[in-house]
Amino acid sequence: MAETLTKLAYQTLQQGKGLMGLAHKEISTRLMTLLAPDGSPRTEPVPPQMLAELRRSMDRLIELDWQEAEADLYPTALLFDAPWLDWAARYPLVWLDMPATWNRRRERNVRDLPRDVSPDAYPDYYLQNFHHQTDGYLSDHSASLYDLQVEILFNGTADPMRRRIIKPLRQALQTFAERPASAIRVLDVATGTGRTLRQLRGALPQAQLVGLDLSRAYLRQANRWLSQLPGELPQLVQGNAEAMPFADGCFQAISCVFLLHELPAQARQHMIDEAFRLLEPGGVLLLADSVQLEDSPEFRVAMENFRRVFHEPYYRDYIGDRIDERLQTAGFEAVTAESHFMTRIWSARKPR
Ligand SMILES: C[S@@+](CC[C@H](N)C(=O)[O-])C[C@H]1O[C@@H](n2cnc3c(N)ncnc32)[C@H](O)[C@@H]1O
Repeated sequence: MAETLTKLAYQTLQQGKGLMGLAHKEISTRLMTLLAPDGSPRTEPVPPQMLAELRRSMDRLIELDWQEAEADLYPTALLFDAPWLDWAARYPLVWLDMPATWNRRRERNVRDLPRDVSPDAYPDYYLQNFHHQTDGYLSDHSASLYDLQVEILFNGTADPMRRRIIKPLRQALQTFAERPASAIRVLDVATGTGRTLRQLRGALPQAQLVGLDLSRAYLRQANRWLSQLPGELPQLVQGNAEAMPFADGCFQAISCVFLLHELPAQARQHMIDEAFRLLEPGGVLLLADSVQLEDSPEFRVAMENFRRVFHEPYYRDYIGDRIDERLQTAGFEAVTAESHFMTRIWSARKPR
């Protein structure tokens, strides 16, 4: 009985988030067409069959998320985990930020970054307003709105998609089952505001978790969220995923969520090569990113529109990229991939 009620509560929460996300996008698109028509992106009309398939695919994701929580891969409480009061307080800021976003889109201004940013400290491809967002990834303001913006973009499914790495991760960590759980080290590359680390902490209560990102502002935000977990002492490191400041073979697992599509092809390969270097033999790499044209051709219009609405300079290249080949080139074996709603998950092992 309690389980049925909890499942119902989860489904209702997700439906509510979905409706909010849709309503937000509908109203903001109308406002943009009215107030900033010359900045409106030219999108392709979405075929009704695709909308129906998106709906089904999202329902499957939520069902699977529930089932994997029920199977104890992570606590059910994680399904309801979000800083609701904080998001409610910040929601007006998302609206207030919109005119600046429209202006940047209209002016094709993709390098509108805070003045105090030192360009030498970052790779050139990073110094852009991804998603046209104010300050790119380089301010506390941007970091404070990011989670809410992603939540709206994915109609509340961002965490359910992130959690798809947990099952293959836990299976792969069986390789190190004879070790104490506290000796397992897991790195989350491009951790951003730490949402993936929060999911991993639910699944691996005793593992040593480390997060790396290029943005100090995002790491500060991650530190704020993660510090709220009882007993947590976040280990967060500023660095470039292409050359990470860790010794060879010092992690048993590495995750990387929603980064690949924001990297040029060569940097994508560098990140994968680095993950290979950092893993102990037998260790596992889990990648999560957008679905691609080859595995999800039925969502082609959604992918195309995403690229047109948001500034995503490397997305077009990414959706045609062969990530499995990149993993093999780096030396990985046992490469598998599966899609869940709008996310593709790759799992790959470093040979023993
Ligand atoms: C779309 S966000 C994803 C964040 C997080 N993984 C999530 O699931 O929300 C991309 C993140 O990658 C970081 N990033 C981009 N290029 C990077 C690089 N070369 N090295 C490290 N982090 C990078 C950005 O600062 C940002 O936090």
